[in-house]
Amino acid sequence: MEETVVKGMTFVPYISEAEIQEQVNRVAREIVESLGDDKAPIFLCVLNGAFVFAADLFRACDLPEAEITFIRFKSYEGTSSTGVINQVMGLTEDIEGRNVIIIEDIVDTGVTSKALRETLAKHNPKSVKMAALLYKPKSLTTGQVPEFVGFEIPSKFILGYGLDLDGQARGLRDILVLKED
Ligand code: IMP
Ligand code: MG
Repeated sequence: MEETVVKGMTFVPYISEAEIQEQVNRVAREIVESLGDDKAPIFLCVLNGAFVFAADLFRACDLPEAEITFIRFKSYEGTSSTGVINQVMGLTEDIEGRNVIIIEDIVDTGVTSKALRETLAKHNPKSVKMAALLYKPKSLTTGQVPEFVGFEIPSKFILGYGLDLDGQARGLRDILVLKED
């Protein structure tokens, strides 16, 4: 199997670009359907990891009146969560009374989701739902199950399609998984 080395760690192919696009389109359909008559929701992309997914998902939803904005958190160092969430860049848009769709690359422990939902609740949105490209149910410690999920995966470290290892490899079109010996 083709191997990719990032920061001295070996990764192997896991989810292909084509499989990702298929699930992005499916998730987009689910989101649009759940919104019913609301054609002008606000999407909230959680930086940095979700930027690639957000670009594809937002366009796949094909809602000309929808908006997208960005928030930035950091909890990961190396290949595991530090458990401490730092908000590095805050919310700039008014979300009061609006349907908000959070776009996350991956829900692991759910600590980030919890912090984010608590932050957003203070701004009185009409609803908050989360779309996560990837979800590791076995790692979840917070009960923050995403409403829309691209792929449920085991608790392994992955990268590519926006996901990084200490800032690297975000540009890979496919998703790779850490090779086990
Ligand atoms: P959580 O707060 O533990 O749910 O982690 C959320 C954040 O950790 C994600 O938004 C990612 O940035 C990062 N993360 C979690 N799992 C992985 C992984 O397997 N690869 C790369 N980053 C990850
Ligand atoms: Mg992230």
